[in-house]
Amino acid sequence: MYGLVNKAVEDLVVSNHGEEVWDRIRGQAGATDAAFISMDPYPDELTFRLVGAASEILETPVPDLLHAFGRHWMLYTAREGYADLLDASGSSFFEFVANLDGLHTRLSLAFPELRPPSFVCQQVDDRTARLEYFSERAGLQPMVVGLLQGLGERFGLRIEVELVEARGETDDCDVFEVRIV
Ligand code: HEM
Repeated sequence: MYGLVNKAVEDLVVSNHGEEVWDRIRGQAGATDAAFISMDPYPDELTFRLVGAASEILETPVPDLLHAFGRHWMLYTAREGYADLLDASGSSFFEFVANLDGLHTRLSLAFPELRPPSFVCQQVDDRTARLEYFSERAGLQPMVVGLLQGLGERFGLRIEVELVEARGETDDCDVFEVRIV
C-alpha cells in the first residue's frame, strides 16, 4: 500500500504511545527505511507486519488496531491535504458512502498504482443501508467499520455497522448493514 497508509499507522502509534514505542514496532516489523514516502507504493506485507508488530508490542488485538486505524484515517487524510476532496465527496453521510469508488478513482490520478477497494451501497431506508465491500485484501473488515464511524463523525453522526455476510475463501465481498443511530 502507499506510504500514506504506513505514515498514518505511524501517526496513530506516535500520537498515543510516543516515538520510542514506534521505533520498537518499526524495528520488529523490519521497516528499515528512515521514513515512509507518502506517494511511494510499498508491499502490502510491510503494512501487515507493522500492524502485527504493533499488536504484539501494544498487547492489542489486530482487529482493535485496524478499527482504531480506520477512525484515525479520516482525521489523518483531512490533515494531510485531502480535506477538499473529503468535502467534495458528499454533503451527507450516505451520499459520501455512495461516492467512495469515485473518491478512490480520483485518487488514482495521484496514486497510479492504487489498488483500492470497491463499495456498492443500497439504501434500505433514511437511516439504513446495505453496503457491499469488495477488496483483494482479506482481514480489513474492522478497518472499514472504523472508517465508516470516522466518516459519521465528520457529519456529527453515530454509526452502527454490522457484518451480515463475511467473505468466503473464494469470493472477495463482505456485506455490512450500516445504520445511523
Ligand atoms: C481522502 C480520503 C482517502 C484517501 C486519501 C484514501 C486513500 C487510500 C489509499 C492510498 C489506500 C491504499 C491502497 C493502495 O495503496 O493500493 C486506500 C485503501 C483503502 N481505502 Fe481509502 N482513502 C480515503 C478515504 C476512504 C474512505 C472514506 C473509505 C471508507 C469509508 C476508504 C476505504 C478504504 C479501504 C477499506 C482501504 C483498504 C484497501 C482494501 O480494502 O483493499 N478510503 N485508500
